[in-house]
Amino acid sequence: MKPRILVSREVFPEVLARLAQHFEVDDNQADEVLGVEGLKVRLAGKAGALTAATDPVTADVVAAVPGLKAVCNFAVGYNNIDLAACTRAGVMATNTPGVLDDTTADLAWALLMATARRLPAAERWLRNGEWKGWQFIQWLGSDVHHATLGILGMGRIGQAVARRALGFDMKVIYHNRTRLPADQEAACRATLVDKQTLLREADFLVLLLPYSPATHHTVGAPELALMKPTAHLINVARGGIVDDAALIAALKGGRIAGAGIDVFEGEPKFNPGFLELDNVALTPHIGSSSSATRMAMAMRAADNLIAALSGQRPPNLLNPEVWK
Ligand code: 8YV
Repeated sequence: MKPRILVSREVFPEVLARLAQHFEVDDNQADEVLGVEGLKVRLAGKAGALTAATDPVTADVVAAVPGLKAVCNFAVGYNNIDLAACTRAGVMATNTPGVLDDTTADLAWALLMATARRLPAAERWLRNGEWKGWQFIQWLGSDVHHATLGILGMGRIGQAVARRALGFDMKVIYHNRTRLPADQEAACRATLVDKQTLLREADFLVLLLPYSPATHHTVGAPELALMKPTAHLINVARGGIVDDAALIAALKGGRIAGAGIDVFEGEPKFNPGFLELDNVALTPHIGSSSSATRMAMAMRAADNLIAALSGQRPPNLLNPEVWK
């Protein structure tokens, strides 16, 4: 008998077909968001699951499914999984690092360019029929070229964002828990600075930290107060890293010039104050959303689950303590 697994959200048919070679698959092509209670019900009797960042794999969920052996996120972030609870219960947890770096870095740049050149507001204005004629002083934006790019969180995605800055002749500074090895720093032409310097000097500040209680509201009113009034903030990491209410107040009050935001506190709900602002570019958590990358993420999660349930070490095991 094949092990039974759950795929918690809609995925490509190719992914289900691959999983079906190894498992009896309970899919969710209707794409209902399951939540804690829904997960408990649908995970009953399952040995493994492919989960998304929208699935709260809490201690409660883990405890309710005694036969569970592996939870394989199709996301690089895994703050939806209570990793300690998984480890205590001997459940392997995995994520999908590496496959989405370039696609997410591309979106960070799309938002950076959009907020710098005020694309969303200019397009709305044009669509509303408000363009009555070309003017010399009209829709003035900020230059990206030769500006200073600041990156908070210099992991793989941060480095991919930095490498793209070379073509814009930017100065790149970063802050990270640890300094990058010299060859990686050289590839990014990036200089390590303390957090205050990063906040004070960046013209474009891109946030690429993982979310955890320790990174909650890493950027709030005090940090925004240090930024240049001409600066732009870009968040493609996780909601909650930024204090959204403080950001809205800073954008409203001209404390900073603009923002490009892909992730929100409490998403898919978000602070309605964002909608009153013309100096923001907003996207609905689509950092990794290209066809090829979403396929690669799901297939990587499938690789992890197939390995985990066939006695092999999953390539992206987050809690190696459970591996015996
Ligand atoms: C996911 C993400 O697509 O990988 C992550 O951490 O934020 C996105 O790439 C999203 O979280 C759905 O799982």
